Amino acid sequence: FKQKTAYEIRLSLVGSEMCIRDRTAICSVEQGSLIYRGYEIHDLAQNATFEEVSFVLLEGRKPEPHELSRFKGEIIKERAIPGAVIDYLRASGPMLKSGTAVPMDVLRTAVSILGNLDPESQSVAADANLRKSKRLLARIPTIIGHMQNVIDGRPLVAPETGGDASLSHAANLLYLMTGTKPSPEFAHVVDVSLILYAEHDYNASTFATRVIAGTLSDMHGAVCGGIAALKGPLHGGANEAAMEMLKEIMQDVGESGIGTKKVDDWMDDAFVQKRKLMGFGHRVYKNGDHRAPILHKLGRQVAAKNTANPGGHSASKWFDLGEQVQKIMLDKKSIHPNVDFPCGLTYFTMGIPVPQYTPIFVASRITGWCAHIMEQHADNRLIRPVAQYTGPALKKWKA
Ligand code: SDX
Repeated sequence: FKQKTAYEIRLSLVGSEMCIRDRTAICSVEQGSLIYRGYEIHDLAQNATFEEVSFVLLEGRKPEPHELSRFKGEIIKERAIPGAVIDYLRASGPMLKSGTAVPMDVLRTAVSILGNLDPESQSVAADANLRKSKRLLARIPTIIGHMQNVIDGRPLVAPETGGDASLSHAANLLYLMTGTKPSPEFAHVVDVSLILYAEHDYNASTFATRVIAGTLSDMHGAVCGGIAALKGPLHGGANEAAMEMLKEIMQDVGESGIGTKKVDDWMDDAFVQKRKLMGFGHRVYKNGDHRAPILHKLGRQVAAKNTANPGGHSASKWFDLGEQVQKIMLDKKSIHPNVDFPCGLTYFTMGIPVPQYTPIFVASRITGWCAHIMEQHADNRLIRPVAQYTGPALKKWKA
C-alpha cells in the first residue's frame, strides 16, 4: 500500500473546503460572457456608471436611487487624504524621478500608510470592511492625482477636498491629475474603462488578496498584495507595456510604415525572438476578451475627434497601427487582444501619462478586490493549495 502524499489526498478532495475555495458570488468569467453579480458586462458598460457598478460589487445589489446618492456622497466626503500620505507622496518625487520607484510602488506604499492611519485597520468585521472599502475607493484616485502633480512639479490639485464634489468619480480622477476638468466625452471613456476593469473573478491579483484575507489579515494588507501582483506586466502592468510596445513599433516603422509590410516584418521579428506581445492573450479567454472591443470602439470614436497629436502622431494613426498589430496577431497566432491593449491605446491618445495606467486599473479593481476580501472574511477558510513534490527521494542524512 503506497502512502498517499498530501498532494494526492488533496487532489482526491478537490473542491472541498480544504482546497482552494473555487466558488464566488461576485463574478463569472466564461468564454461566452462576463457577469458581475448577475449583470452582463455589455449591459453595464452601456447603461451603468462606475459608481453604480461599485455599489453592485461592494453592497451586492443594484442601488435604489436614494441609496446611490447616499453612496456617492459617502465617497465624495472621503476623497481627501491624510497629511501623512501627502507628505509621503511629496517625498516620493525623487524616488519616481530616479526610477527606483514607479507609480504602482508609490501607490502601494501610500495605501499601506492609509491602513496605518485607519481607525478600523485591524478589524475584519463586515461593517468595518465595507467602510474601509469605501474609503479606499474614494482615496486611491486622490493618491494617483497628487502623485501626478508631484511628478509634474505642480501644486497639488484640491488637497483639502480631494477634488471637485460636482465631478463624477472618473471625471474627478482626471481633474486631480491635470487640474483641468475633462470633457464629458473623456470622462465617459474613463468611466467605462473603470467599469470594465472593476472585477474579474480569480485573476492573479484578486487571488492574492483572497489568500492574504484568508489568513484573517486586514483589508489594507490584502490590497497592498493585490497592488503588488497587478503591477506585473503579465497582469495589470500589460496596459503600460502594450503602449510602450506600440511606441516602439511606431518609432521603428514610422507613421508612413503603418499599413505596410514594415509592421508585418516587425511582428515576425518579435515572433522569432519569442517576445510576449503585451496586451494579447489571456489565461481564460481563448476567443477574445469581452471587454476589449467595447473599449476599442469607444477609444476609436474619441480618437477620431482628437486634434491633439499624442506622441507626435494623430490619435487615429495610433489606432490604425493598433488595429494592424491586432490583425497580424489574430492571422498569424490566433491570439486576441485583452482589455489592456485598447486601454493603453485609449489612455495614450487621451494624454494620460503611461505610468499611471496600472494605478488607474487599481482605482477600478479596488472594488473587486474589496468585494472578494469581504466575501472571504464573511465565510473564511484558510486558502492553502498543495504542491506536488518533485525533489530528491527520501535519503539518510548520515549515509
Ligand atoms: C490581465 O486573469 C485575468 O482575468 C487577468 C485580467 C483581469 O482582468 O484581471 O484579465 C487582466 O492580466 C490580462 C492579461 C494581460 N497580460 C498581457 O497582455 C501579457 C501578455 N500575455 C501573455 O503573457 C499571456 O497571454 C498571458 C500571461 C496573459 C496568459 O498566459 P498563458 O495562459 O500562459 O498563455 P497561453 O497558455 O494562452 O499561451 C500559450 C502560448 C504561449 O506559450 P508560452 O510561451 O507562455 O509557454 O501562446 C503564446 C505563447 O507561446 N502566447 C503569446 C502571448 N500569449 C500567449 N505569444 C506572444 N505574445 C503573447 N501575448
